[in-house]
Amino acid sequence: MRIAVLAETDAAEPRVAATPETVKKFVNLGAEVAVQAGAGAASNISDADFAAAGAMIGADSAQALSGADVALRVRRPTAAELAGARPNLAVFALMDPYGNGAALADLARSGAIAFAMELMPRITRAQSMDVLSSQANLAGYRAVIDGAAEYGRSFPMMMTAAGTVPAAKAFIMGVGVAGLQAIATARRLGAIVTATDVRPATKEQVESLGAKFLAVENEEFQQAQTAGGYAKEMSPEYQQAQAELTASHIAKQDVVITTALIPGRPAPRLVSAGMVRSMRPGSVIVDLAAERGGNCELTRPGETVVESGVRIVGALNLAGRMAPTASSLYAKNLLAFIETMIVKESKQFLINWDDELVKATALTRDGAVIDQRFAQ
Ligand code: NAI
Repeated sequence: MRIAVLAETDAAEPRVAATPETVKKFVNLGAEVAVQAGAGAASNISDADFAAAGAMIGADSAQALSGADVALRVRRPTAAELAGARPNLAVFALMDPYGNGAALADLARSGAIAFAMELMPRITRAQSMDVLSSQANLAGYRAVIDGAAEYGRSFPMMMTAAGTVPAAKAFIMGVGVAGLQAIATARRLGAIVTATDVRPATKEQVESLGAKFLAVENEEFQQAQTAGGYAKEMSPEYQQAQAELTASHIAKQDVVITTALIPGRPAPRLVSAGMVRSMRPGSVIVDLAAERGGNCELTRPGETVVESGVRIVGALNLAGRMAPTASSLYAKNLLAFIETMIVKESKQFLINWDDELVKATALTRDGAVIDQRFAQ
């Protein structure tokens, strides 16, 4: 079997879908690996590093794709970017499927079999393939680091001869993977941390990290977690009660990190313009949900907005800001999944269409979009 590692075409994407470590493992599993020249540059991996791990270097995508059974990317490629590939090329990437039916149909028509890594089920067997977790963890860390850099004061309390500097107050909204890492990071930096979520399971997790939990704990809250472990969209009444509870709290915070998401839906609005204006000048909001519309009403994706002295950071691709680390974890997630499709004896690539991981992540096959949620 042959694996092509393609360069990203979006200039805002510095990650790469393989590392010398994963290339070496693929080669040991009997695969040939062709890396498109320059694919790792933005993650500090040179073509020579890839070659030393056993990869061939293709001058362009067509050369890397020549004869390939599998193509690896961080972001979904267009059909045009797969020109020259053989039919039934299996493409593994973050496919960003919600609201992108036309692009998926285009990819399907090219004959590619597209696997959306972000749809990997969160079951024990697939933990090592969970790209959402591996990347969200880094994003949660980076959000606090960025928040601390934007905040003009100190995170830890400092007792000095010239006086005592108070600890920063940090509020984490949404306690999934990113939020948990944000809590842990803000605590390590010395902030006084509070956190909120709509899923009851998060209360204990927040407290176990030494932070204080704040939420509207009514009957709807008790039912807010789906069987898959995700949040449901809350009723307008709940959202109103949540806003009332958090409004007075936010006014006293120095740094607010928002990470609240509901799969396939726009991000819930948790911080209104009025709440922003109630904060002290110099306070910071880092909105990790910026890509999906933002948790804060004033967020502008990719920009830092200043409103009444409050800085609102509309962070995009925070994991990409730590590209070498993010690439190494993402590449390992891909390796763990693809390893299950390599037949040990013949060293051939074979998709088991009965495997629940394949069923959950495969979007296109035989020229059509097969996941009905994304078919047009
Ligand atoms: P996510 O990125 O979809 O959402 C982030 C957080 O926002 C969630 O905790 C969600 O409850 C929260 N949220 C949604 N609406 C909100 C609102 N109105 N107010 C406040 N918070 C709100 O979540 P993520 O990080 O993908 O985690 C989802 C679940 O999956 C968690 O239970 C996590 O522990 C679980 N998980 C399980 C894994 C496994 O078993 N292999 C691996 C990783 C995560």
